[in-house]
Amino acid sequence: MPVFRKNIILKLVILSKQTFNSMLILGIETSCDETAAAIIEGGKGNKKVKLLSNTIASSLSLHATTGGIIPEVAAREQVKYIIPVIEKVIENSKLKIENLDAIAVTIGPGLIGSLLVGVETAKTLAYVFNKPIVPTNHLIGHIYANFINSEPRTKNQELEENEILFPAIALVVSGGHTDLVLIKNHGNIKWLGGTRDDAAGEAFDKIGRLLELPYPGGPAIEKMAGLGNTNRFNLPEPLIDSDDFDFSFSGLKTAAFREILKLKEKNNDKLTEVDIQDVCACLQKTIINILIYKTLKAAKKYKVKSILLGGGVSANQALKKGFELEIENWKLKIPLFIPEKRLCTDNAAMIATAAFFNYKAVPWQKLTANPELYFD
Ligand code: KG4
Ligand code: ZN
Repeated sequence: MPVFRKNIILKLVILSKQTFNSMLILGIETSCDETAAAIIEGGKGNKKVKLLSNTIASSLSLHATTGGIIPEVAAREQVKYIIPVIEKVIENSKLKIENLDAIAVTIGPGLIGSLLVGVETAKTLAYVFNKPIVPTNHLIGHIYANFINSEPRTKNQELEENEILFPAIALVVSGGHTDLVLIKNHGNIKWLGGTRDDAAGEAFDKIGRLLELPYPGGPAIEKMAGLGNTNRFNLPEPLIDSDDFDFSFSGLKTAAFREILKLKEKNNDKLTEVDIQDVCACLQKTIINILIYKTLKAAKKYKVKSILLGGGVSANQALKKGFELEIENWKLKIPLFIPEKRLCTDNAAMIATAAFFNYKAVPWQKLTANPELYFD
């Protein structure tokens, strides 16, 4: 087919979103160590999308042996998994790739080698099947995990139930990021503040490694923290009283590190089970306090109607309980939204959903990965 005809067809496909009553979007996510694909269905006027199919292959167990992610290892694994993962997600949905209306792919932020696997695969699919591509920001994706209605509790439950109202505050809290944003509407996001050094998840992961807990540290620390004494160590809460919405976790990490060294010095370079549990309990409590305090301060200041959490750390149940308790203590009467646990950590359903609500398709030739992408 001559190039100009292909371009005309592509433009028609890209422009035609407004005419859809419902849209089927394939999401692809490969920004870190996961290789994920998902298919969502979004209806015209619906406040949430339906998750039709969701697949994730993780190289986590490989990274567990090294205590962290080795970018080249992650990307090599993703090259192996990407086609089988996409095949599986389409097969599970009982759809054909021809039925899909668009492809959404994470273009950043993330590891360049990993991002390229998803981006180049999406480009190839878009070219071969003549589909529009929606380049999607991973961080915005984490927020949009809240707009997925994946588990209706009853058959009659409407998609609109538990509607997220704007303006909303969103806390994105993951292994690479800790950011607070104000969402005035779909596509209208204002960054309020973020971490000046380590992300909250990074603090969990680094202390987890020092305590010789399994990688990633977050879930392992949560487990141990449940058995520990939250009052044994007095850890600092950096920037908690600052006038902005910035965070800092590196001083807290160093303070926890010093406590661990002191404990080891006292006991022949060894930590007891109780020591580990108490360090975990104090670290988790302190991180949670900081996250909650700053988020609620922003929620109050901007008089928001919803509070949204997203990112791996939002899978933490103590964080959820802490938020629920403090929202009540602060008498805020603002509903709290946290994605289903499996959608808190990296997945492709959130990418397809973000693309649905912020639909801006580009021709495949214009798609590029951007490892430094941030909130606009
Ligand atoms: O969102 P995510 O899967 O990947 C990034 O975009 O970074 O987040 C991974 C992070 C890791 O730091 C991990 O330790 C943390 O989320 N995490 C948790 C929990 N589950 C995952 N942190 C605290 N408690 C958890 N239950
Ligand atoms: Zn993530």
